[in-house]
Amino acid sequence: MKKIIIGNLKANLTPNSTRDYLHNLDSMTLNENCETIILPNQASLLENNFKNLNIGVQNAYPIHSGAFTGEIGLDILNELKINTILLGHSERRELKEGYSLILEKFNFFKNHNFKIILCIGEGISQKNGGRIDEFLLLQLKDIDLDYENLIIAYEPLWAVGSGVTPTLEEIGKIINNLKIYGVKKAIYGGSVDIHNAKSIINITDGLLIGGASINFEEFAKIINIA
Ligand code: PGA
Repeated sequence: MKKIIIGNLKANLTPNSTRDYLHNLDSMTLNENCETIILPNQASLLENNFKNLNIGVQNAYPIHSGAFTGEIGLDILNELKINTILLGHSERRELKEGYSLILEKFNFFKNHNFKIILCIGEGISQKNGGRIDEFLLLQLKDIDLDYENLIIAYEPLWAVGSGVTPTLEEIGKIINNLKIYGVKKAIYGGSVDIHNAKSIINITDGLLIGGASINFEEFAKIINIA
């Protein structure tokens, strides 16, 4: 099975620099054993017609179109041929995107056959309280784990953007427990960089990368060592 490497550009890069980034990365020789997905900012989305890259969206609203100020819906994504979506990222959960809206989005985009990357992860208090597994399973409640286009991204909140990661043993244990619970594909995200990418990808189905994906040359190096 191909490993999955996802670059989450968040609110970085402008429309012009995103276009350059995507064309530059797409023209490089990239590891064929990896599926590379890039999630540009909403304002910088381009049609998903690259040779080696799959373009996905960082978030969307579960509607076709309509009176939803500031949101984008399915009609826009269909025209851009985008059928990959990230859901439940901790930065959105922090903005008060809650369980029921995430579930609604999951079901809507599942019904439209999207590839769904669903982020789950514990905060520092759950970690210190020894309640990681319990908390992660709560975030998977009512999610159809048999959906074939589902990828679960394990991203501890305290590891995102902090430069700190769990140990390999801790990551391996969580991934293993998720698989026992019925998750088919489980990737890791949170402070992945050129130094730790290889050892982490070896024990997971892939990586979700924020900061270290912003520079296309650095990101290509990660794809190629993974
Ligand atoms: P990071 O972000 O790699 O900068 O920690 C990961 C993410 O937010 O998905």
